[in-house]
Formats: sequence, structure tokens, C-alpha cells
Amino acid sequence: MRMRKKKYLDERLAECKENLFEYLTEERNFDDVKDVRYINFAEYFGNDNPVELEVGCGKGQFVCEMAKRHPELNFVAVEKAANVVVLACEKAKEMGLKNVLFIKTSAEYLPRLIKPHTVTRLYLNFSCPFPKPSYAIHRLTNHRFLKIYDELLVDGAEIHQKTDNMHFFEYSVEQLTSFGYALKNVSFDLHNSGIEDNIVTEYERRFSEQGMPIYRLEAYKYVK
Ligand SMILES: C[S@@+](CC[C@H](N)C(=O)[O-])C[C@H]1O[C@@H](n2cnc3c(N)ncnc32)[C@H](O)[C@@H]1O
Repeated sequence: MRMRKKKYLDERLAECKENLFEYLTEERNFDDVKDVRYINFAEYFGNDNPVELEVGCGKGQFVCEMAKRHPELNFVAVEKAANVVVLACEKAKEMGLKNVLFIKTSAEYLPRLIKPHTVTRLYLNFSCPFPKPSYAIHRLTNHRFLKIYDELLVDGAEIHQKTDNMHFFEYSVEQLTSFGYALKNVSFDLHNSGIEDNIVTEYERRFSEQGMPIYRLEAYKYVK
């Protein structure tokens, strides 16, 4: 089903040009797109602080709160749906955050926008589980995406994932470990695990209010 366009969406996106970078979102043959436009993070943020990335940030609750708590870090958040990324940009502006940049694009295009090996951590929060086996290549922990993240991440960078979906969690564990990642701090019920500094995302609130357990993991590679 096609999402209804938000009122004045184009005007509101234009108002966000200070903290929004727009690139292609159409899901075409991604490999055919050769237009490389690396974003100069040091210039944009005005510092050389480490850059952390969230893919599929939705309305931006997680990344805005992270940016507020961690002024010593920069955050880049990617979201392909214009309807929600506009809300994320508006939230960051309202909060006066200077250390978060949104990119409206499909994650498949990230290697055209982010220089290799410049991201220090990746967050995947409640990514769409795409339950149909034929849609597995769209899951953000599919090997297709792990290859992309490998290009972006520095040595020793971690991937942090949260989801409500047990099958997607199992799938992610299988994909990550068969790609060479080891796992740590794995939780099958995050909200009853005693964790203190968890930032609850929009989807996380919805699912946990329904009594669903939240699964979480941290994936890392050994650095030789
Ligand atoms: C279920 S929502 C979760 C939103 C938010 N992270 C949260 O926890 O509340 C997943 C989001 O990922 C976005 N998404 C899915 N595949 C994507 C892709 N390939 N590139 C960029 N965004 C994607 C969707 O548009 C959607 O907004």
C-alpha cells in the first residue's frame, strides 16, 4: 500500500535542508547508479568526532536522544521514507541538535555517499523483518547489506541490533555469524535484563506495550 503524502511534505523537507541530505530512493538496479557524492562529515559537523550510523531511523527518536546524550559523537541517520524522515529532521531541529545529519535514501546507496571505513558503529533498530522468504534480500542483516556495512565501517566497529521479531533475530544471528561476526551482550528480553541506558525507539515502545520481548545483540569482528 502506498503511504499517503504528508501535508506540505515538499515544503517541510525543503525547510530541513540544513540537516537533511537527499539522494535517490527509488529501488532500481542499485549497481547501475554510479553517481558518487561523498559527504564531507568533518566539514558538515565542523569537527573530526567519530561518526555513528543508524539505518532505518524512522521518526528519529533513537538517534536524536543518542545525539543529545553524546555531544562528543556525530550521528548520521538513514531513512528512505520521506514521510517519516521529515519528522526526524524536525525533531532534531526542535532539539537544537548540531551533531546529527539525516540522509533520505535507500541503504543500498550508502557506499556512494559515505567514504569507506569512516563509520565507528552501526545501529539497526526494529528493521523491517520481511517475513516472506522471497523478500529476504531486503532484510537489513542480509549478506547483501553486511557487505555494504563492511565497506563503511572501521576495523573493530560494532553493529548493534534490536528487534521484536524472534525469527528475524535468529536470521540475523545466522547471517552475522556466517559473515564472520562474533556476538556479545545478547539479550532475549532486553526490558527485563537490568539494562539502564536503553533508548526506547518508536517501534520498541509499541511492541513492548503489547508485552512482546525485545531481542538485542552486539556484533563485532576480531581485529588482527
Ligand atoms: C519498522 S521501522 C523502524 C523505525 C525505527 N528504527 C524504530 O525503531 O522505531 C523500519 C524503517 O526502516 C526503513 N527502511 C527499511 N529498509 C530500508 C532501506 N533499505 N534503506 C533505508 N531505510 C529503510 C523503513 O522505511 C522504516 O521507516
